[in-house]
Amino acid sequence: MATVYLTRRERFNAAHKLWVKDWSAKKNFKIFGKCANKNFHGHNYELFVTVKGTPDPLTGFVMDAKVLSNLIKKEVTNHLDHSNLNKDVKFISKKTQPTTENLVILIWKQLTPHIKGCQLHSVKLYETENIFAEYFGE
Ligand code: NI
Repeated sequence: MATVYLTRRERFNAAHKLWVKDWSAKKNFKIFGKCANKNFHGHNYELFVTVKGTPDPLTGFVMDAKVLSNLIKKEVTNHLDHSNLNKDVKFISKKTQPTTENLVILIWKQLTPHIKGCQLHSVKLYETENIFAEYFGE
């Protein structure tokens, strides 16, 4: 049986600020750079969700890509798009640093209970065109 990986891309825009309360401003800027800016700032995020499975003999689908897209919107991007990731999103704890690394774990948790008939393989999130994080559920 052939295993095929199917990826759906979705996009969202969101604001955040990276900051550790117990550190001095100097140290925060040293570690987080512009992501520590006082009044938040935005990123144009690009999210890639990959599922794996065997193509259905009739449809040829691993999963219906429209169903996957709607699921990502309902469980993830509708909550994140045009939000402040430090403040607005129910599934991001106020204690969680809203880095790309932490977001991929939280996005995985949002999606995995809803994937039927195949498996979630990875969640990849680009914060800029040069930086992305990827999570495989480990
Ligand atoms: Ni940033």
